[in-house]
Amino acid sequence: MKPLAEMAEAVLRCAGGREKTALSRAFAAEWRVAREAGERPEIGTANPPMHPARPAAPELLSPRDVPQRKPGTPEGRIALLHAVAHIELNAVDLHWDIIARFTDTKMPIGFYDDWVKAADEESKHFNLMADCLEELGSFYGALPAHAGMWRAAEDTATDFMGRLAVVPMVLEARGLDVTPGMIKLFKQAKAASAVAALETIYAEEVAHVAYGSKWFHFLCGRHELDPKDQFHMLVGRYFHADLKPPFNEEKRAEAGIPPDFYWPLTA
Ligand SMILES: [Fe+2]
Ligand SMILES: [Fe+2]
Repeated sequence: MKPLAEMAEAVLRCAGGREKTALSRAFAAEWRVAREAGERPEIGTANPPMHPARPAAPELLSPRDVPQRKPGTPEGRIALLHAVAHIELNAVDLHWDIIARFTDTKMPIGFYDDWVKAADEESKHFNLMADCLEELGSFYGALPAHAGMWRAAEDTATDFMGRLAVVPMVLEARGLDVTPGMIKLFKQAKAASAVAALETIYAEEVAHVAYGSKWFHFLCGRHELDPKDQFHMLVGRYFHADLKPPFNEEKRAEAGIPPDFYWPLTA
């Protein structure tokens, strides 16, 4: 099996949505089998691209140019699933990117176990969303999508702790806030497969936020830094907006993000 960082780079350089997630899941399975056999596979180093390869469609637009659709209509629900599919595909790349980009910092092998598992789950999430879209007569790529999603990765490309603060602890934590409302909307529409898919996503995303919090605190401890102060400083530096309540305080707590981390960052 090739070193993990090289696997990560291969996923980042794979353009197609289904192709990227298939490769991601195959590599994650290889890693899991090796780890369950008690092996410590090599991490190695890689040369991750500044922008991961993506399919020709969807067209990527600035958020203000992405048309808004009413969530209570079939078109609105397709647009919402399309937006989630796009987020999940970005998340696949984000998790492999954190594996490939920061190999200069020596980390315990559990760090890699966590992000490989998260990347595998994001790949499943993308496939679930793509399946739901196809069931509704659409597909990933049929609508335009937000261009700004990779911004956080670019901004934190040389700051490992900044990456952990912004991606899992701000962006993925935001997913915990908004997913229950989406589940309710699809329940009202009696869209059973979308409800089941979103419930899977909601259940699994708590762990991704928790991995972020765990490794952020680990690095703070290694450098004798106060985690809350560091978090506020790094989010202020790399995240260009206020955090928006309402927060899912219960799930955030379950994921290891206490209220005094996020409330001071609201407007
Ligand atoms: Fe996800
Ligand atoms: Fe996630």
